[in-house]
Amino acid sequence: MIRELIEKNRSYRKFHEDAEVTQETLRSLVNLARLSGCGMNMQSLRYMLVTERAEREKVYPNIRWAAFLKDWGGPKEGQRPSAFILMLKDKGRNSFVVQTDMGIACQSILLGAVEKGLGGCIIGALDKEKLIDAFGIKEDLELQYVIAIGKPDQSVILDEIDLGGDTKYWMDEDGNHHVPKIRLEDIIIKK
Ligand SMILES: Cc1cc2nc3c(=O)[nH]c(=O)nc-3n(C[C@H](O)[C@H](O)[C@H](O)COP(=O)(O)O)c2cc1C
Repeated sequence: MIRELIEKNRSYRKFHEDAEVTQETLRSLVNLARLSGCGMNMQSLRYMLVTERAEREKVYPNIRWAAFLKDWGGPKEGQRPSAFILMLKDKGRNSFVVQTDMGIACQSILLGAVEKGLGGCIIGALDKEKLIDAFGIKEDLELQYVIAIGKPDQSVILDEIDLGGDTKYWMDEDGNHHVPKIRLEDIIIKK
């Protein structure tokens, strides 16, 4: 079951925008992150939940989609995510493991989303200053990632590649998104 969830947990970038995601759903996803492990049990991550259309409009222009898809400018109206989770870090709680904490928290949130028939994408390429302004993020918090959440409207295909092969994702002529993954035998180092 975990394999199925992880296989389905792709980075989705096209959604059924009319399928609303509620605050309650986002709260339940953040709760999974809250219950996940973190370095020194420091719990330095905070979250803002965005579901209202007017607030979503403030996010759309300030996130950068799929750097490798040069001819694609991101999801068009109607296919944009219907919710976002802004992941913030309490600046007063500095732990050298916080990057790992964020990865674990993101994965917990996304696996929870997939279990609910949703999907998402972690977005690190942000216009941070604009988002900080738009959401009135206080000085003591640092914006780290935006996680897009919605009902996916995209098929994503995993392709096996050899070590040294091109790892760039790409879109075929039917609009299917392909993600190359290096073969298992190539990432396990022989002793
Ligand atoms: C830390 C991190 C930051 C990412 N930032 C972005 C981003 O800014 N924009 C985007 O479209 N995708 C982003 N992604 C998604 C990756 O491009 C995606 O995980 C990768 O292509 C592999 O696809 P998969 O998630 O379906 O396995 C990010 C993923 C991670 C883990």
